[in-house]
Amino acid sequence: MAKTPAAAPPAPATPPADALPWLEELPPKKIVAELDRYIVGQEAAKKAVAIAIRNRWRRSQAPEEIRDEIVPNNIIMIGPTGVGKTEIARRLARLAGAPFIKVEASKFTEVGYVGRDVESMIRELVDVSINMVRSEREDDVYPTAEQRAEERVLDLLLPPVPAAPASPSAPGTGAGSGEQGAAAGRPLFVVSSKGDVQPKMPEAETEAGERRRRTREKLRQQLKDGQLEERDVEIEVQQQSFPMLEMMQPPQGMEGPDVNFSEMLQDLIPKKKKRRSVHLHEARRILIDEELKKLVDMDDVVNEALDRVENHGIVFIDEIDKITGERSTTGPDVSREGVQRDLLPIVEGSTVQTRYGYVRTDHVLFIAAGAFHIAKPSDLIPELQGRFPIRVELTSLNEEDFVRIMTEPENALTKQYAALVAADGATLEFKEDGIREIARIAGKVNERMENIGARRLHTVLTTLLEEVLFELPDYPTKHIVIDGPAVRERLLKIVDDEDLRRYIL
Ligand SMILES: Nc1ncnc2c1ncn2[C@@H]1O[C@H](COP(=O)(O)OP(=O)(O)OP(=O)(O)O)[C@@H](O)[C@H]1O
Ligand SMILES: [Mg+2]
Repeated sequence: MAKTPAAAPPAPATPPADALPWLEELPPKKIVAELDRYIVGQEAAKKAVAIAIRNRWRRSQAPEEIRDEIVPNNIIMIGPTGVGKTEIARRLARLAGAPFIKVEASKFTEVGYVGRDVESMIRELVDVSINMVRSEREDDVYPTAEQRAEERVLDLLLPPVPAAPASPSAPGTGAGSGEQGAAAGRPLFVVSSKGDVQPKMPEAETEAGERRRRTREKLRQQLKDGQLEERDVEIEVQQQSFPMLEMMQPPQGMEGPDVNFSEMLQDLIPKKKKRRSVHLHEARRILIDEELKKLVDMDDVVNEALDRVENHGIVFIDEIDKITGERSTTGPDVSREGVQRDLLPIVEGSTVQTRYGYVRTDHVLFIAAGAFHIAKPSDLIPELQGRFPIRVELTSLNEEDFVRIMTEPENALTKQYAALVAADGATLEFKEDGIREIARIAGKVNERMENIGARRLHTVLTTLLEEVLFELPDYPTKHIVIDGPAVRERLLKIVDDEDLRRYIL
């Protein structure tokens, strides 16, 4: 497989710095190292995930006869709340460069008959993959599209003269044609419907032609210098979807195999073109989009996207413990078990019909996670347990972990708050003893009340910093130091008062 930079699906705040190869091309140790940048501890889970990811690549290298026999090692991550299960998945998604989706198992059991149809997760995965491949392809041809759009913008500014110079109203909108007659007058802004430049000027008029060419080049320079950005130009745009149709979604649970209802209807309605006057920079954006559509071969995108789903796709099923039910009871549990049964064929490998064609799920990697507080993995129906052969436990976090979580990850909370404070022109400095104190308090509150893991750090820190964040543009000092005494002064009262603690932390 070609090396493709990890194009993380939802544009992350910090894209993986140096264009990473596909995560699966990294050896497991490197994958763990990538995860280490964001997640503290939880070595067992990281290791299992890394092996599973790398095995996808190993499989692709294996001889064909055996390749189809190698099944992915689906994983269940088990661990208390707030210790990083979802976080690992989220990071994986950003790093993977492979189609990835995260679904909540409970959403398939929502009120009404079995909520959403379980196969929809594969359809979503396909959509993610299509978008991913399309945007990669678009990146490849972007310079060409940009160039073509520039020519079209120039056509707008200085419409190409059609064969007969006497009647310049050929593109004929009527509007403004009176003024247009004078060659020196303001140009009429009309888009040529195809967009390509047609300098079909009769040879006889070389002089006029030459002048036009020079004008065009002058305009091109002005464009480059950004002098024309605010000019209004009139362009023809395809009328976007009818907003009404967007709302006409099929009722929950009635989603057919292949339906995108509104899209179907939109294909039926003839596309209307409409002239609109827009700023030049917007016109350029629209034209680039159009050119990209012409340059990217959608069939090719679909093929590649389906292939990626089948061989590299990852589905993360969160909250899987929520679809377990004690066996004997009736009621909602019936539908929970129903969801488990619906999951079976998908996890084991079946063919799902999607808008873009059939997709086999045999080699899609499934990672499930759950707190399993009340239910145990053994409460899942046995067939499903068997489909998730690898179990990893995430450990609950202690004070030491809290200290690291607050400081080490690239997106660590202390760094986040420092950035927020910096926006108001102040600096926020956490001293080591301050961090230690926060960790201690978070641990203590977790112990005395419910253990919500690292999420406690959020509540403790917001409480601690509330005053600063509230006062800020006017806070007396511009360099705010959070050290041990500051933390104690602000928080101990709350921690030691049972009622306050209950409500605030
Ligand atoms: N090991 C960790 N390293 C760094 N940050 C962590 C870690 N564990 C938890 N966090 C932080 O705590 C928050 C909650 O973690 P996460 O969403 O992964 O919990 P979870 O294990 O999925 O819990 P739940 O079972 O409630 O869904 C995350 O936003 C993350 O910032
Ligand atoms: Mg979670």
